Formats: sequence, C-alpha cells, structure tokens
Amino acid sequence: MSEDIKKGLMGVTVDETSISKVMPEINSLTYRGYAAQDLCANCKFEEVAYLILNGELPNKKQLKEFEKQEKKERTISKALVEAIKKIPKKAHPMDVARTAVSIMGLEDKETRDNSPKANMRKVMRIFAKTPVALAAFYRTRKGKKIILPKKKLSFSENFFHMCFGKVPNKDIVKAFDVSLILYAEHSFNVSTFTARTITSSLSDIHGAITGAIASLKGPLHGGANEEVMHMMNKIKKPENAFKWINKALDNKNVVMGFGHRVYKSGDSRVPTMREYFGKVAKIKKDKKFEKIYDIVERVMIERKNIHPNVDYPTGPTYHLMGFDTDFFTPIFVISRITGWSAHIIEQHAANKLIRPLASYNGNKYRKVNKLNKR
Ligand code: SDX
Repeated sequence: MSEDIKKGLMGVTVDETSISKVMPEINSLTYRGYAAQDLCANCKFEEVAYLILNGELPNKKQLKEFEKQEKKERTISKALVEAIKKIPKKAHPMDVARTAVSIMGLEDKETRDNSPKANMRKVMRIFAKTPVALAAFYRTRKGKKIILPKKKLSFSENFFHMCFGKVPNKDIVKAFDVSLILYAEHSFNVSTFTARTITSSLSDIHGAITGAIASLKGPLHGGANEEVMHMMNKIKKPENAFKWINKALDNKNVVMGFGHRVYKSGDSRVPTMREYFGKVAKIKKDKKFEKIYDIVERVMIERKNIHPNVDYPTGPTYHLMGFDTDFFTPIFVISRITGWSAHIIEQHAANKLIRPLASYNGNKYRKVNKLNKR
C-alpha cells in the first residue's frame, strides 16, 4: 500500500471545530471548553444539550425556554405511530430510529431549508421526537400500549416513563442523565463525520442524522455497548471471567468496549461512568456485573495495555436500569443527536464538499468484448 494512504483517515485532520476537544492538559473531553465530568457534576442533560447546540451554558430563563420548546415537540404524528406499529417486532431499534428520523424528514415542512434558524427548529423536533418514537417501539414490540410523554418530566425522566410507565429514583435518573451527557459529543467520530459528509453536499439535517444513526449502529462504534452486555452474559459469573477473557485474547478476538482511535491510555469519560455504574449496582444490590467488569478490565490492561472506552460501563449500567440490550445504542442516539446537530450546523456555516481521493489498484485498461465473445 502506498505510503501516502491514510487508511481509516488515521491521524488526518480534515477540518476545524469549536464544539469539543479532548484537552491533554486536563486529561479530559471538553464541550465548548467545559470538562465533561464538571458538566456531569453540575448540570442536567438539557443544560449540556443547550451548551452543545448554542455554544454557551444557558441561564435560568434560557433553560426554561429550551425545555419548553423540547416539551412542546414531544409528540409524533399518527402516521409515524402507525408505521412503528407495523414494524416487525424483531427489527433492531437502531433501524427503527433511522426509519423514524427518515419519516420525520418526510413530514417536516422545513426539510429543505438549511438556514441556521430552520436547522435549529428542526433539531428541536428531531431531539424531542426521536425518544418518543423509540419508546413507542419499546412498548409495541412487547404487545404493550404506547405511553404518552408527560410535559412535567425532564428529558431523562420522560424516557423512563415512556418505556416503563414509571420513573425510577433520582439516583438512577441522575446516572442515566450522566450517561447522556458523556455520550452527547465526541468530535469527528465516525457517525459525526458521516453526518458532516452528508451535509457537505448541502443535503438536509434529517438525511444527515439518518446516516449518522446507521453509522453509530456498528459494533466498532456505538453498537459496542450492546456487545459488552452480550459478552458479560456469555461470561455469566465472576468466577468465569479470568479464563474467558484470557481465552478471548489467546484467540486474538476483539474485546468490545475496549480500545479507542483517539485515546491510547484511557477514555476520559470512563471514570465518571464507572462511578455511576457502581451507584446503580449498589441501588440494584448487584455485585456480579461489577466483579466481571473489573476482572476483564484488569486482564485487558495487564496483557494488552488496552483500556475501556465509554461503552464498557454504559452497557451493564443500562442493563441494571432494566433496558433491553438492543436499546443501549438507541439511548446513545437520543443523546448524540445534540452533537451531530451542532456539527451539521457548523458544517453548513463553512462548507466544503468532502471528497477525498483513492489510490486505484484495479485492472489495467481493457476493451469490452461483445456479449457472445465472453
Ligand atoms: C465509540 O471515535 C470516537 O470518538 C467514538 C466514540 C464516540 O464517543 O463517538 O468514543 C464511541 O465508538 C467507542 C469505541 C467502541 N468500539 C469498541 O469498543 C469496539 C472494540 N474496539 C476496537 O475494535 C478498536 O479499539 C476501535 C475500533 C475502537 C479503534 O480501532 P483503531 O484505532 O482502528 O485500532 P485497531 O483496531 O487497528 O487496533 C490497534 C491494535 C490492534 O492490534 P495489532 O494489530 O496492532 O496487534 O490494538 C488492538 C488491535 O487488534 N486492539 C484490540 C482492541 N482494540 C484495539 N484488541 C482487542 N480488543 C480490542 N478492543
């Protein structure tokens, strides 16, 4: 392979962004200059969503207005409800999320308007409606009645309410909120780059987010949180963990929830999420998953010097909260819509068509033989 090729765009800087950065001096992911763990300690998810989309943390009045807008948009059309009811029960909810955003694009009166103001209005609709669509599928595929959203509930509380018909205690809600804050944005990851690439042809926000969801589904990206849970279920009990992970490494298997293209000595979001995983495990009186977690992590670091990424602690945390495993990546979606949207707006503001080159390694020039001579 030619020296010039940067497969996977590894180490290539393709544009500028003011949305987020991993700052080595504080060893942390920052959104608009604020450390993610600082935001987790001091804000609720809605404040961070506002920050990512608008560049500054909201004051009380701005937050109230933002929440009002979000709550106002917590409805989905009858046509979308009917479409969700017809979706095969075995469909992956990521495909449902993708289809739901696509249908919202068909219904939105401003789909083709890429002006900053119209984009922000569309963001609010996608941000508020996607959890409603996902929760509707959560219920219908189990043969249960759809639960309507409640305006008096926060974004996180409302998602629990729509899925389970009740809101858990405030510590569980806080852990969920923290996971949404940590998932909200991470610079030019593959789904965000997908969204920016789609946007670069001056396509619209519904299309860009639909593509981003398809990209996030893959197990090397967002889908890893589901794979972590499948791994933990295969391990079954802490006594099996040491043998299981060593065998996986002997077989040169990729261990989900570990490794990262950018972080080489640990994902800065993990310590915060690990702490909240511990809190949820304590409330649920569960020791098993934490024990498996710690053993697998220790062996991965000792044998491979590969550290966990954020998908490692979120997997078992969502499981303990009661979510079906295939809903873990859709939860990532309802948070990352904020980061994707900010990037789509940023791309529109200083657009350049994304169109890289490829080094051709196919056949030399040849002539076409007539069909009866081949
Ligand atoms: C997310 O980019 C983002 O910011 C993403 C994200 C976000 O917020 O948007 O942070 C969210 O996507 C987190 C990542 C979730 N994915 C996984 O957990 C899947 C498992 N991890 C990997 O497959 C891998 O680490 C990647 C895909 C995340 C990163 O891959 P790279 O940068 O392309 O590196 P690589 O696969 O080429 O690995 C380099 C070496 C290889 O060994 P050698 O061939 O050099 O001997 O490290 C090994 C790999 O085999 N390696 C692993 C491993 N991760 C890397 N070996 C075993 N298990 C792993 N998980």
